[in-house]
Amino acid sequence: MNAVITAIGGFVPPSILTNKQISETVDTSDEWIVKRTGIKERRIAADDVATSDLASAAIDDLIRNFKVDPLEIQALVLATATPDHILAPTASKVCENAGLKNAFGVDLNAACSGFLYALETATSMIESGRYERIIVVGADKMSSIVDYEDRNTCILFGDGAGAVLLEKTESSYGLMKSILHTDGSGIESLVVPAGGSKTPATMPSLLHRMHYLKQDGSFVFKKAVSSMSKVSQEVLVKNELHTNEIDWVVPHQANLRIINAVGDSLGIESDKVKVNIERYGNTTSATIPLCLWDFKDDFKEGQNLLITTFGAGFSWGATCLKW
Ligand code: ACO
Repeated sequence: MNAVITAIGGFVPPSILTNKQISETVDTSDEWIVKRTGIKERRIAADDVATSDLASAAIDDLIRNFKVDPLEIQALVLATATPDHILAPTASKVCENAGLKNAFGVDLNAACSGFLYALETATSMIESGRYERIIVVGADKMSSIVDYEDRNTCILFGDGAGAVLLEKTESSYGLMKSILHTDGSGIESLVVPAGGSKTPATMPSLLHRMHYLKQDGSFVFKKAVSSMSKVSQEVLVKNELHTNEIDWVVPHQANLRIINAVGDSLGIESDKVKVNIERYGNTTSATIPLCLWDFKDDFKEGQNLLITTFGAGFSWGATCLKW
């Protein structure tokens, strides 16, 4: 028994933040950002829009376009690094908003790797035989944890959500074997230092802007390239696939130079590598499902996709699927 993606939805907020607008508040330029990251603009949610709203809008899109009955969904696995609250779960709100009355909902945080981890979790649930229909969402309101006075980070991120429906199939289509990794020694290189149980948000931590994302950008860059390249090679071997059998690569969208370096290391032509970072920036848990949503008309039945990601933790991995 396999798990196969049978429906896709996506949502990005309408408000656009351009490189030029960012360059009016920090010392940067459109030229620098495009050259070093590939990003031209990103979407930013309104102050009163939470991650649950982004996720719910993506599910609504999926339900509407693929005529899915929300009452038939048995579980929601929501990948997010920017929950509405520390407590209660964001998935609870999303189940309510989207009318998933017969589903249990759970949050999963693996930062930029969240969607892939969530996909593996839901795939395993279906392959176990206990579940037949699960919605997996990646949603992040990165603007809620980005410091718009820090040019090292504020140029990179955007807000958005993507959702897929996973269903049981007896066919050979769907998710193949995955490889996922976690290395906690990378935490300090990419972290929101305050606001959790280790360093609760206090007036001093707020004054020191410790509730915003901090990173060692060039270290993260190198780790992302080497880790995504290696795990992609490994997952191809695990699934007994050769690179020339891969029709599309759907990588996490963190930096166009990371994406190009991973594609080059695999020896895969750049026109097979899906990229929408120029429009959305890095939406963390949402980049991969937003790519699947954006390019779904390009994917033909029976084609092989390679998905790979890297993020905070460090967390990274890859999987293959037959569309
Ligand atoms: N505008 C202009 N100059 C800048 C900016 C900016 N926005 N940011 C940094 N610089 C300067 C630096 O100060 C430095 O100046 P110096 O040489 O005078 O010291 C110079 O540019 C080069 O800095 P680097 O950090 O080496 O620049 P790099 O080419 O590595 O690009 C970037 C920085 C874009 C952050 C890159 O390292 C990156 O994308 N890293 C990956 C980080 C990431 O993706 N994190 C997200 C989560 S994890 C994930 O999704 C993979």
